[in-house]
Amino acid sequence: MSTVLAGYGLVKKYGFTTALAGVDVEVHERDSLAIMGPSGSGKSTMLHTLAGIIRPDDGQVLLRGERIDNLGENKLSALRRKRFGFVFQFGQLLPELPAEENVALPLMLEGMPRGEAVARARRWFTPLGLDGLELRRPGQLSGGQAQRVAIARALAAEPDVVFADEPTGALDQRTSTEVVQLLTSATRETGAALVMVTHDADMAAHCDRILQVRDGRIGGHSQYTVV
Ligand SMILES: Nc1ncnc2c1ncn2[C@@H]1O[C@H](COP(=O)(O)OP(=O)(O)OP(=O)(O)O)[C@@H](O)[C@H]1O
Ligand SMILES: [Mg+2]
Repeated sequence: MSTVLAGYGLVKKYGFTTALAGVDVEVHERDSLAIMGPSGSGKSTMLHTLAGIIRPDDGQVLLRGERIDNLGENKLSALRRKRFGFVFQFGQLLPELPAEENVALPLMLEGMPRGEAVARARRWFTPLGLDGLELRRPGQLSGGQAQRVAIARALAAEPDVVFADEPTGALDQRTSTEVVQLLTSATRETGAALVMVTHDADMAAHCDRILQVRDGRIGGHSQYTVV
């Protein structure tokens, strides 16, 4: 199985806090990876470091074998737009734009003409169960619908990797299950890999693999290990 994204020896410190204490992680083609662990254990830092949002103090991040952690800011932000998709706890949709334009936005930012971008965006509405909601503004959508629009937006530019940080953190259990099922299946169908941070073991169970993070390490601290 080929490795899409990898982090080796990742270290990130904030003052006296070690958020990442030497993390090795590989994400394979079509792999879905759940990152779990207590609050403050370094999950978001790990996701942001793999996604080129935070620069590690030490270690390397490789996308299809090429280092990305040492790219300049402009190259890095272009790479994030083209190769990565993001879903956050609150979808971070633009409130004044209709749902279909929110989904089309990443394509327009890449220079696709508006009409073509919106047409491509609309194709996501049926598979994500959003038929008829194309022209609603985010404020007119339920939390679960808004997250499905955010999933469509993350997938619209056909990224290599989708990153999701607590994508169901603001939803009830039943809606969370629907959203995670759609997130994992739609991502898999595009051929992208998924890296998802969650507190919820039921949500993590939808992924192919689960990584436990404790104190900035994968697999945890020896004090947590049951021998
Ligand atoms: N910008 C920052 N400045 C200072 N410290 C930070 C910063 N970001 C994270 N930290 C610290 O690094 C550690 C890891 O934080 P991180 O956000 O990765 O945890 P997390 O596992 O995502 O937690 P949560 O489940 O609460 O979201 C924590 O101790 C946190 O306080
Ligand atoms: Mg976090």
